[in-house]
Amino acid sequence: MRENIGFIGAGNMAQALIQGWLSKNLIKPEEIFVSNRTEGKLIKLTEQHGIVACATNEEVVDKCDVVILAVKPQDMETAVEPIASAFNDDQIVISLAAGISLKKLKKLLPKNQHLVRLMANTPAKIMSGTFGYCTSSRPSPGGAQALNIRVERFMERMFEPLGLLVKLDEGEQYEAFTVATSAGVGFVFELMIYWQEWLEERGIDGDLAQNMTVSTFLGAAELARQSVPQSLADLQSQVTSKKGVTSAGLLSMREFEVERGLRYSFEKAALRDRELAQD
Ligand SMILES: NC(=O)c1ccc[n+]([C@@H]2O[C@H](COP(=O)([O-])OP(=O)(O)OC[C@H]3O[C@@H](n4cnc5c(N)ncnc54)[C@H](OP(=O)(O)O)[C@@H]3O)[C@@H](O)[C@H]2O)c1
Repeated sequence: MRENIGFIGAGNMAQALIQGWLSKNLIKPEEIFVSNRTEGKLIKLTEQHGIVACATNEEVVDKCDVVILAVKPQDMETAVEPIASAFNDDQIVISLAAGISLKKLKKLLPKNQHLVRLMANTPAKIMSGTFGYCTSSRPSPGGAQALNIRVERFMERMFEPLGLLVKLDEGEQYEAFTVATSAGVGFVFELMIYWQEWLEERGIDGDLAQNMTVSTFLGAAELARQSVPQSLADLQSQVTSKKGVTSAGLLSMREFEVERGLRYSFEKAALRDRELAQD
């Protein structure tokens, strides 16, 4: 089933999704409708991809079966409140905004049967994203079940080709997803920076040190991906011989409680996510 998809906000995330969907032929440019606060990004997107630029947010809502709210959390109310009455019951509305709960979305769009909260991470830009979503379903004449299936089919059809898609409960699961996969990209870069610096301190040129670091992380991740269902612990033991080099390093990592430090950082990030949601 083909559906018109609209974006309110034409920033980084909207551009990443549009580019990904078009390159995978999941949608045609004339089925994508986009509005933005200022016109610069719209002109660029139209020139690059031939999508339909809309002069107002309301026009996007009028023309689309699925509307993606791709504005920053602080702009959400200003963008949606004035056009709330233009949405119809049948539309799937997907919010990308971090910290805006389904409850808040329902308050903004009381008429809508199906609201989706979606968390993406930056590798979505290169079709290696990790997407997590949760939905609110309400009783309706057609039955909430049918609507749920429509949302799930849409999510699977459009997001699985761009990476890993996970359905979550809102609350602890969604928070954990946000910390581990969205903020998690930043944490992985932090580790990569340590790797690169250590190599540079041993006389390896910056660009090469970066390449070696990236290749190591990429290689380990790809090996793990291709080795499923083997566990990560199994894969680790395959590269760790008793009294060997890896073993010596791992012993120190455990002595210095690297895991405890990481866990503490994850908890701090989760706390901040909760604070932002309350603001
Ligand atoms: N980028 C990521 O990696 C990432 C990851 C996870 C979640 N998210 C979430 O995704 C959402 C979008 O993020 P982003 O990185 O794409 O942000 P962005 O690049 O700043 O894009 C937001 C866009 O919204 C437009 N906008 C603001 N108010 C508007 C209004 N009233 N009507 C229409 N358009 C309006 C802005 O227009 P102007 O051009 O005029 O400023 C801007 O182009 C955010 O809620 C963020 O929390 C992003």
